[in-house]
Amino acid sequence: MTGLFVTLEGPEGAGKSTNREYLAEQLRSRDIEVVLTREPGGTPLAEKIRELLLAPGDEPMASDTELLLMFAARAQHLAQVIRPALARGAVVLCDRFTDATYAYQGGGRGVDVARIALLEQFVQGDLRPDFTLLFDLPVEVGLARAANRGRLDRFETEGRAFFEAVRACYLARLAAAPERYRLIDAAQALPAVQRQLDALVPALLERLGD
Ligand SMILES: Nc1ncnc2c1ncn2[C@@H]1O[C@H](COP(=O)(O)OP(=O)(O)OP(=O)(O)O)[C@@H](O)[C@H]1O
Ligand SMILES: [Mg+2]
Repeated sequence: MTGLFVTLEGPEGAGKSTNREYLAEQLRSRDIEVVLTREPGGTPLAEKIRELLLAPGDEPMASDTELLLMFAARAQHLAQVIRPALARGAVVLCDRFTDATYAYQGGGRGVDVARIALLEQFVQGDLRPDFTLLFDLPVEVGLARAANRGRLDRFETEGRAFFEAVRACYLARLAAAPERYRLIDAAQALPAVQRQLDALVPALLERLGD
């Protein structure tokens, strides 16, 4: 039995974390096992790596260190949570995954995409998300929302150009593989975003049944 691997992606403040529970409820109400998780993190050890990645600090983090920590956390998350859940036939809803590595470390930091692809294959083998929901919105709208949450993490203190590059990278990945991605207009008010998610549920169920 193989479940369904669904990732939620998009820049800062797009509403991934706000909407993941809503989407999980839509599936659970149909008696489907849903494993709701996030990256970086998702296991106790991987959450410790998350803390290292997000904490602002005096020592600049080399971009390769950042990249390797992301994939170290991912290896742990895959082994402990994602692969076992998919093997049970569950739907895994993951708030950020490797598309975020391409967008932030590749687009934002300028790490060579070939290095990311190498690590993707090394850590994941052939496993890729079945569906990726891309929450897209203008950078300034997302940053304003994120700022309302309080203290900024190490990524949120980056400048406007960084987040424009992140957004552009996400949209380019969608354009290159439109069958995997579903674009969500995340600038809309929350009820309208949730209606967009409702409209996606049948396609998820259909794929799960395959
Ligand atoms: N459609 C919406 N309209 C207005 N505000 C929203 C909407 N969706 C989410 N928010 C608010 O915006 C803020 C950021 O949302 P959320 O934390 O879900 O974003 P995120 O995509 O998870 O961001 P990050 O990548 O930084 O974790 C929250 O305070 C949330 O309540
Ligand atoms: Mg979030």
